[in-house]
Amino acid sequence: MPLLLAVIWFVQRYYLRTSRQVRLLEIEAKSPLYTHFTETIAGISTIKAYHWQSQFQQTCDEHINNTQRTYYMLLSIQQWLAFILDLLVAVMAVVIVSITTCLHDKFSPGEIGVALNIVLTFNDALAQAITSWTQVETSIGAVTRVQRFRDTTPTELRQGATETLQSVHDWPSRGAVVFHQVTACYSSNTPPALTNVNLTIKPSEKIAICGPSGSGKTSLILALLQMIEVRSGSISIDGRDLQSLRPGDIRSRINVTPQDPFFIPGTVAYNLDPTATASNVLIETALRKAGLWEKISYAGGLSADLQPTSWSAGEKHLFALARALTNDSQIVILDEVTSSVDTTTEIIMQRVIQEEFPNRTVIAIVHRFGNIDLFDRVAVLQRGEVVEYDTPKTLLSQDSKFRELYVSSLGHSCY
Ligand SMILES: Nc1ncnc2c1ncn2[C@@H]1O[C@H](COP(=O)(O)OP(=O)(O)OP(=O)(O)O)[C@@H](O)[C@H]1O
Ligand SMILES: [Mg+2]
Repeated sequence: MPLLLAVIWFVQRYYLRTSRQVRLLEIEAKSPLYTHFTETIAGISTIKAYHWQSQFQQTCDEHINNTQRTYYMLLSIQQWLAFILDLLVAVMAVVIVSITTCLHDKFSPGEIGVALNIVLTFNDALAQAITSWTQVETSIGAVTRVQRFRDTTPTELRQGATETLQSVHDWPSRGAVVFHQVTACYSSNTPPALTNVNLTIKPSEKIAICGPSGSGKTSLILALLQMIEVRSGSISIDGRDLQSLRPGDIRSRINVTPQDPFFIPGTVAYNLDPTATASNVLIETALRKAGLWEKISYAGGLSADLQPTSWSAGEKHLFALARALTNDSQIVILDEVTSSVDTTTEIIMQRVIQEEFPNRTVIAIVHRFGNIDLFDRVAVLQRGEVVEYDTPKTLLSQDSKFRELYVSSLGHSCY
């Protein structure tokens, strides 16, 4: 019996170690297959347009082969375990038969039959016990990997960010934003995207941010939203330094409309107001102002599922604008919302922005300057620095960078 237990212990140890390694290899081999699959689904129209089907099919086959190799290895190890246990049982059966034939007068035929029956079903129970134990080990390994990921993934929560905004419901109440000597970068090994930026935005002011591509316009917004690292300097809203606040809290108090509208699977109401703080009347009014109510009510109203796939780019932007209208934040950020829409949509959007946000601070990144006089001031960025910051009228009356941008945009027949 001790010999038997020792053999079983060695077998399970060997099996467990090997199957754990092969299972890890299988997980690693599956990851490129899943990535390839999701990328193919996302870019299916491009693949078809460029006739890349056979290349993608070939890559997919290679990934499937790799995953099957490890899976086959796992099955082989299981077969090996079953084979070893069968051998073990055969040896035990031979031992029992030999003993009972040598000592046949000490055992009744019934006892021998029961002993043999137990031994012959023993391998199934043993194999199941070892396989279950391996599964438990593998599952614990998965939990360990999740824990390791949680422990080693850097968090955006800063050491000094102790202040919570739960008690300050009305922050920001005025919408005064101050950038003081801000230098910000995307990571520690990239050059700063913003260098010594100074900007003072008064409450309710409408600011246009412009500049050539790569000049740091989006980075300026990301720094305000605490989505890139502010290496030195400070940003404050209504006198409160953002460094002392949690980034999530700050973002929840700023109304941002990104350049590419995004949609969440769910109803129209959920898409416009995910936190369910606005009333249905307010949501409906926002949709009416954006000129989308007719379309939405025809498709089933606020409680119907949103189907943005059949919408035009302009309608998607108008929907994003309606989302901004349902949020009563004092600071509104618009990242090139009117850049990729037609003139009619743009006129609707400009009217809505002008009429609906009179008492709010609006920071808008703009590429087209036809309605630039709607803004109180224009900040021109160049290589991460604010090179000009004044009223549109003043900048246009001088030999300024803004004037150059304005003239070149007219040359491209933009509005
Ligand atoms: N994720 C990133 N990682 C590292 N550097 C980045 C990243 N995104 C942008 N940058 C760099 O930061 C600088 C400013 O980029 P930013 O996106 O702010 O420009 P932008 O003015 O918004 O340009 P565009 O008008 O094309 O949107 C650029 O030099 C760019 O290469
Ligand atoms: Mg940008």
